[in-house]
Amino acid sequence: MRRFPDGFLWGVSTSAYQVEGAVDVDGRGRSIWDTFSHTPGKVENGDTGDVACDHYQRLESDLDLLPELGVNAYRFSIAWPRLFPDGRGRVERRGLDHYDRLIDGLLERGVEPVVTLYHWDLPQALEDEGGWLSRDTVEAFAEYTATCFAAYGDRVRWWVTQNEPWIIGVLGYQLGIHAPGMTDLRASVEAMHNVLLAHGRAVQELRAGGTGGKVGAAFSLFPNYPATDTDADRDAARLSGEYVNRWFLDPVLKGSYPDDMRALYEERVGPLQLDGLDTIATPSDFVGVNYYTRRVMRAAPGREPFPWDVEPARPGVPVTDVGWEIVPECLTDLLMTLKQEYGDVPVLILENGGVFEDAVHDEGRIDLIRGHLAAVRDAIEQGVDVRGYCHWSLMDNFEWAMGYRARFGLVHVDYETQARTVKDSGRYYAQVARANGLEDE
Ligand code: FCB
Repeated sequence: MRRFPDGFLWGVSTSAYQVEGAVDVDGRGRSIWDTFSHTPGKVENGDTGDVACDHYQRLESDLDLLPELGVNAYRFSIAWPRLFPDGRGRVERRGLDHYDRLIDGLLERGVEPVVTLYHWDLPQALEDEGGWLSRDTVEAFAEYTATCFAAYGDRVRWWVTQNEPWIIGVLGYQLGIHAPGMTDLRASVEAMHNVLLAHGRAVQELRAGGTGGKVGAAFSLFPNYPATDTDADRDAARLSGEYVNRWFLDPVLKGSYPDDMRALYEERVGPLQLDGLDTIATPSDFVGVNYYTRRVMRAAPGREPFPWDVEPARPGVPVTDVGWEIVPECLTDLLMTLKQEYGDVPVLILENGGVFEDAVHDEGRIDLIRGHLAAVRDAIEQGVDVRGYCHWSLMDNFEWAMGYRARFGLVHVDYETQARTVKDSGRYYAQVARANGLEDE
């Protein structure tokens, strides 16, 4: 048996807009994802999160799935517009009460809450005033997070401030694939900077509130490799690493932005005002790692906005049903690099998973889980301080621009009937979690 450290968190992840539905229930305000998903052409098949998995109203029975999956942690997100329908100011009691019930329901079942404060559902009222392009949104976030810390800080020990600042910037502001749907490189850099400032402000609010608890952000991290062993491709891989990883890790953990990427951005969009780095670097307690796949980089001089190409999946490398390469050994690499560059910072894997279409007999997902857990275990053996692993996702759900087509769940959801069925991968994961270890190969 390849054991994991005592007290290892074995979890599953979801986020509010992807599972809750009940968008008009209990005084919830609108979010940018309501607006975006209802805009024709933005989400495959015209899907929206209006109903999703109806997790909001099926809370008790969904919580009962957790012990069945053998987990001792549940990472979920709070919907900001349920607590603050107008983004700031007036607090909606019914929204607050809902997450009270969720947290208490977890603790009753021996499951540790891991609470994400922002998983992309910005109140539309704030978007109307500039959203993440406005510093006022940073302060509204500080107010909202302080409310969460005061309400739940007596029971929640793990807080995740922001989910995937790069994805917010690249898909939401650079490519227009996610809400709010902008296509403006300068706006993307400014929005990501404000998201990082908001992270720092939330850390400050947690410390000021005095409830204790550990706090960090979740980053979408991709190890970057050169397509060939040329200087040009090696340079493309290094720069891509600054673009997707270090642009976030450096400010949070070192208080600075990487120089070459900053120069590249400024060549494209002009001088940037990236102040407040001391706020961004307010010491946090862990790094949240969301890992799905690698990037293989080829230099492409003259390509806009950046002088590189990301190679398609390599022949012979296994892929998920949406074509993402399944490369668990790159997760070990990534974790080792984190340790080398940033020291012994505690790590929580907060997302890892894949799309497999098989309804219930999902051998592909079992292999993916087995491989990635072995990779995490290898990193632990080499001295990386990994405290937990949360699989994405508890159940099939609204996968943003891909709608309901892309199924990531350990539990199958029949969207006609809302019936839940634990997949073979869910049973496999339960065994590993209960044993706190992987059977030997
Ligand atoms: C991540 C998101 C999560 C889910 C997975 C598949 O980028 O954080 O909500 O969509 O990808």
